Amino acid sequence: MASERSSVAEGGLIIQDFLPELKGSHLADSIVDGLMKEPKEIPSMFFYDERGSKLYEMITELPEYYPPQVETKLIAVAADSLAQGLRGHDIVELGSGDCSKISILLDRVPPADIPTLRYVPVDFSRSAVEESAANLRTRFPGMDIHGIVGDFLSHLDCMPDGRDRLLAFFGSTIGNLEKEKAHGFFQELKEVLRPGDEMLLGLDMVKDVTVMERAYNDSQGVTAEFNLNIVNVVNRLIGSHLDPNSFEHLAFFNPNESRIEMHLRAISPMSIELDGLEAPITIEEGETIHTENSYKFTMERIERLVGSAGLAIRERYTDENGWFSLLRLGN
Ligand code: AVI
Repeated sequence: MASERSSVAEGGLIIQDFLPELKGSHLADSIVDGLMKEPKEIPSMFFYDERGSKLYEMITELPEYYPPQVETKLIAVAADSLAQGLRGHDIVELGSGDCSKISILLDRVPPADIPTLRYVPVDFSRSAVEESAANLRTRFPGMDIHGIVGDFLSHLDCMPDGRDRLLAFFGSTIGNLEKEKAHGFFQELKEVLRPGDEMLLGLDMVKDVTVMERAYNDSQGVTAEFNLNIVNVVNRLIGSHLDPNSFEHLAFFNPNESRIEMHLRAISPMSIELDGLEAPITIEEGETIHTENSYKFTMERIERLVGSAGLAIRERYTDENGWFSLLRLGN
């Protein structure tokens, strides 16, 4: 199990921080390595600086970006059948963010059961865990909260133990993992889940290409701004002086990989000179930098992934178009 960096505890609230102090130099190295690859890439984790996180919040409210609207309705339907049976459970939410989705479920739990629950938000943003803990303590008095600042890929085994658990992993965030990592996540789940544990998993499905591509090419240009903002993050971390306006946003469905890909395409040639690099990194006009993959799922792939963890699909909630799936999984 990973060791804790810090922890805070006061009546009913614990926050444990398992994230190693991420050194600026380590982050810079991973960016430079990506820019030296052929084709170039920037890891998508660098989208989420303060401005990037705000832009992502704006994306979730766009009419074209259907996943949050569809998933929210599915959570409400699932909650109607789940909420009565949660007495004494730990509710663990991976990538908890602002906790708005889990609140849909908690709102339907009988008030007398709320003080028997322990909510465990897991997020790599300490401020997200702290703010949502404060918010939920006011909304659901008496519920214990055990926040974990960590990465759901490395810190699954840091979840508290000893009670039945419902894990929630919403937003199709698993779609941002490469195939091997997604597979690794399910293998890890297999290790930590015990009989009786359940999971709610949100997944974005393959659908009409126009609908998928529109969701990543919105008419207000918010997704483009989100993509271009990564250039500012890169500049700050590696000390480069790239102009975000020298790139254009590109997002398309790659049917061979079943994913939406986001790229930045250079509209003029650029070069990056850094201390310690033998030669500048050059970016040709028209060259692209790969910034994100967002995998879209079929039931066949889901069954394979879920099956590899020894889990079974107990219920599948979906919308009338079959655009999104919320799965209730058990072992
Ligand atoms: C966070 N994640 C599930 C989003 C997605 O759809 O892959 C990130 C995103 N990128 C562009 N729009 C939204």
